[in-house]
Amino acid sequence: MRIVVLVSGTGSNLQSVIDAVANGSLPLDIAAVGADRPGTLGVERSASAGLETFVVNFKDYSARTEWDAALLEKVASYAPDYVISSGFMRIVAPGFINAFEGRYVNTHPALLPSFPGAHGVRDAMAYGVKVTGCTVHFADAGVDTGPIIAQTPVAILPEDTEDSLHERIKVAERELLIQVLADLARA
Ligand code: GRF
Repeated sequence: MRIVVLVSGTGSNLQSVIDAVANGSLPLDIAAVGADRPGTLGVERSASAGLETFVVNFKDYSARTEWDAALLEKVASYAPDYVISSGFMRIVAPGFINAFEGRYVNTHPALLPSFPGAHGVRDAMAYGVKVTGCTVHFADAGVDTGPIIAQTPVAILPEDTEDSLHERIKVAERELLIQVLADLARA
């Protein structure tokens, strides 16, 4: 099974996938890792691991539709079975979803449909829920919407800060993503 992973930031969840593939516990091929901006640690980690990487820099395109088309063309050039959004902070265009319908997997640090968007951890704390968690789902053209594949609950502790909670969620998120990818690879 071939995947392309899209990141925008540190790529710690991606790192856990790279490690699982390297130690043989995840039977898949990471065809490439891409970002929407230069200088991400996620792409840096991937290059260090000997993986192919690319950047389709959002700022290089005067029109959003041109960036959308360039991203789709680049990702499709790897002929992936699945595209994994792991900390990728762009909402892809409907054309991208059409090309990878049911094969675009996103991870989110909250129990969707609760707390979608870029601040799911912060929003859960602000609301005062006692349990949040993480979600792996097939993404559609919405913001963190689409059929849910798996979820893990994570309790919010009184002493939690947004960072401490997000780090604890990410531990669960990495395990969940690897489990989902292993299941997809076996299917
Ligand atoms: C993850 O929690 C992801 O769900 C959210 O941003 C975080 C990315 O973390 N969108 P990292 O870049 O994998 O460290």
